[in-house]
Amino acid sequence: MSDILDFETPVKLKEDMLDSVKEFDCGDNDLNEFLTDDALKYMKQNLATTYLCNHTKHGLLAYFSISADSIEISEKEKEIFREYDKALREYPAIKIGRLAVQKEYKRNGIGERIIEIVLGYALEMNNRLAVRYVSVDAYPESAGFYERCGFKRFKQKGDNMSMYRDILIKD
Ligand SMILES: CC(C)(COP(=O)(O)OP(=O)(O)OC[C@H]1O[C@@H](n2cnc3c(N)ncnc32)[C@H](O)[C@@H]1OP(=O)(O)O)[C@@H](O)C(=O)NCCC(=O)NCCS
Repeated sequence: MSDILDFETPVKLKEDMLDSVKEFDCGDNDLNEFLTDDALKYMKQNLATTYLCNHTKHGLLAYFSISADSIEISEKEKEIFREYDKALREYPAIKIGRLAVQKEYKRNGIGERIIEIVLGYALEMNNRLAVRYVSVDAYPESAGFYERCGFKRFKQKGDNMSMYRDILIKD
């Protein structure tokens, strides 16, 4: 599977692609069902944009959903962000709401490549409006993956770990 990372540019989910996502299985039912049942509704209501990562040979490898976010900082947490001149109460971000890789293709670098793609979107976005972080509320079992991709643990949010990655390129 040396060619697995040569997948096509991610495409936004459309109605006529719903057939092609039916067999998708990342090993997590909630994430599978979001793709087949809810992703399009979220798109239509401007709540989250879902992208499919297709491979010419291997088919649908993965999907991810992103939306605008804001990281809220309490008085106590300002310490964590103290490196900045101005400690704000909220920081603008892009949130990875969902990210899932087809189970037989896990651990081939696809997830990491998708993170790079989302970072690219965030950097591009900065030409239009400011985005400082990429954020995620990671499943406990996936927090290690996000750390490996440069995210920091921020705080527990329900069962998940709220994490962020700074995208500022410092001179
Ligand atoms: C989590 C997930 C997206 C990772 O995607 P992936 O394509 O398997 O990950 P990659 O192969 O790109 O891994 C990148 C690095 O993270 C590590 N990694 C991958 N999954 C990990 C995990 N669950 N915990 C710790 N490290 C992990 C890899 O070993 C690799 O490190 P290395 O380069 O040092 O070997 C994928 O396993 C998945 O779809 N899981 C089910 C759904 C899920 O949990 N999604 C996240 C919701 S928050």
